Amino acid sequence: MSEPIKWVKKDPSRENVYWPNDAMKKRAWISDPAIYEKALADPVAFWAKHAEELHWFKKWDKPYEFAPHAFKWFVGGKTNLSYNSLDRHVKAGHGDRVALIWEPEPAAEKAQKITYNELLRRVSKFANVLKSLGVRKGDRVGIYLPMIPEAVVAMQACARIGAPHSVVFSAFSPESLRDRMVDAGAKVLITADGYWRRGKGIELKKSADVGVDGTKIEKVIVVRRLDGTCPMKAGRDVWYHDVMATAKEECAPEPMESEDISFILYTSGSTAKPKGIFHTTGGYAVQSYLTAKWNFDLHEGDIYWCTADVGWVTGHTYINYGTLMNGVTSVIYEGSPDTPDFGRMWAIIEKHKITQLYTAPTAIRMFVKWGNEWPEKHDLSSLRLLGTVGEPINLDAWLWYFDKIGGGRCPIIDTWWQTETGANMVNNLPGIGPFIPTVAGRAFPGIQGDVLDAGGTPVAVGEGGYLSIYEPFPPALTRGIWGDMERFKAQYFGDYGPKRYYTSDGARKDDMGNFRITGRVDDVMNVAGHRLATAEVESALAQNEKVSEVAVVSKPHDLKGEVPVAFVLLKAGMAPSDETRKELIKTVDQVIGPTARPEEIIFVEDVPKTRSGKIMRRILKALVRGEPIGDTTTLMNPDSVNALKKAVEHKG
Ligand code: WT7
Repeated sequence: MSEPIKWVKKDPSRENVYWPNDAMKKRAWISDPAIYEKALADPVAFWAKHAEELHWFKKWDKPYEFAPHAFKWFVGGKTNLSYNSLDRHVKAGHGDRVALIWEPEPAAEKAQKITYNELLRRVSKFANVLKSLGVRKGDRVGIYLPMIPEAVVAMQACARIGAPHSVVFSAFSPESLRDRMVDAGAKVLITADGYWRRGKGIELKKSADVGVDGTKIEKVIVVRRLDGTCPMKAGRDVWYHDVMATAKEECAPEPMESEDISFILYTSGSTAKPKGIFHTTGGYAVQSYLTAKWNFDLHEGDIYWCTADVGWVTGHTYINYGTLMNGVTSVIYEGSPDTPDFGRMWAIIEKHKITQLYTAPTAIRMFVKWGNEWPEKHDLSSLRLLGTVGEPINLDAWLWYFDKIGGGRCPIIDTWWQTETGANMVNNLPGIGPFIPTVAGRAFPGIQGDVLDAGGTPVAVGEGGYLSIYEPFPPALTRGIWGDMERFKAQYFGDYGPKRYYTSDGARKDDMGNFRITGRVDDVMNVAGHRLATAEVESALAQNEKVSEVAVVSKPHDLKGEVPVAFVLLKAGMAPSDETRKELIKTVDQVIGPTARPEEIIFVEDVPKTRSGKIMRRILKALVRGEPIGDTTTLMNPDSVNALKKAVEHKG
């Protein structure tokens, strides 16, 4: 267990507390710590003031309104995410600035630079395409695209006409795609024939075809990224380049009510069914814009690279909307960081003179493993700031990132947030600091939160508890779960009431108000930055006909952070074998995708159960972690534990 942070002036641990240098302070948008008090004195006024930096077709009547489970921002205001991302810059005379740099995986293929003018043109055309296919304001549109510029074009076009998008990670299985499309009731899907990954053409359209089956999708728009030889279904499928060729170049942005839905994004809860987290327009725009600007210190001419996939909220907010609303250049890389060699990341930074890099601890740990010689081959001096997101960052990874990548010059902004929060919530600002390895930082100005005990009382400095965010809620916080508002109320406001958002993350605070996030406290794992419920993996494995019963728990992993371990009881007459193991992995690939593959599959005769028949996962978790098992007296089958111990030792 890590020690609680005690920040005392002469504490020797101060060697790992970093403060911004003068250059950073001078350059940063915010360098006076008084911002925190000022903003918290009147958070609504704070957000409303910064909302003025964006364009509103109609100004709001009321900046904020609270009712239990139904809070609103910028009530009566009308705005549009696409207008703020694109038109605003073009109208200000900045249309020639580069909005996107796209780096294809094949190193021989040329990078693409797309200006704000050009992106606006493509987005407007594609918005017209969607309209011509019958998409109207409020209709849901599915996006199942790899890391190509069309992913941004598609999201922006949806936002332009007010059709909420639901992006599904391209490495997710057809079944995952289908579930999400059915739940959202999407009628159009945008996908691609495929993409390059580790030098191989991945045939995405084939997966899309399977996933579309059994949904209400009437039209599939297919971007040609590979050779265009994928099957096309007559009457349903159209090529992106065909429909774009004849589309009109102008499309007026839809003036959206501030509280209109901008997008739905599915994420894992603690059950097997992912939740369709939805976000609105005005509040999401303001917090995405301001956090991108202040956290990453975005200024004119910056070339900023967020390595997340567009399928995650990080891609939505910090590749697309938040970044483009700031008028800087956003870099997108199609492929894998080890292609053609382990130096690809650093080659891209050198080639495009990237100024800010935002990536995940799991990636950093992998880079550490690959060795220093890779970054050392490249000139990384263009970098000014580093960011991390997705999981707690360990000390070694932090120090390596700081030294080897940042050259000791760049602050590391550790951003804590969630799909649900839409934008950053906790992190220290580049001009203020401090930057402490493993500590995310303070709540962003205007946001208030604390570490609470189970009863809702704030815990003392250094004590562990649950991170909670207080009302007035930050503007980008989700307004609900698509089709399941009861789950929304229970999940986030069931523990501490309607004025305290429950995050499901454990945390500790130090005496400066910084939060150290200790990880999820529910049955949600963080596998190489992917959020995944143990219940999802269980339900996937249970679909294999050989499986009688299954329990999945997480286990710490050096590179991935956490990995799933599966305990599997086979049906009578089925013998455990490596063959069966392979089959089970295949089932997981089919149902969720390779990201959810169990690290270990342990075949057992029995799993520990309570008298009411509930599997005691706590015991399995202790077993795989080599921790004390604790009380087993409430078990129906206490004998199972000894057999399990043996199975774990021999890995089934
Ligand atoms: C969960 C949310 C936010 C975009 C990426 C993940 C963990 C996220 C941090 C951080 C410690 C973090 C939390 C959170 N997490 N950022 N900086 N330090 N933990 O979004 O898939 O919705 O996952 O990721 O456990 O609850 P997500």
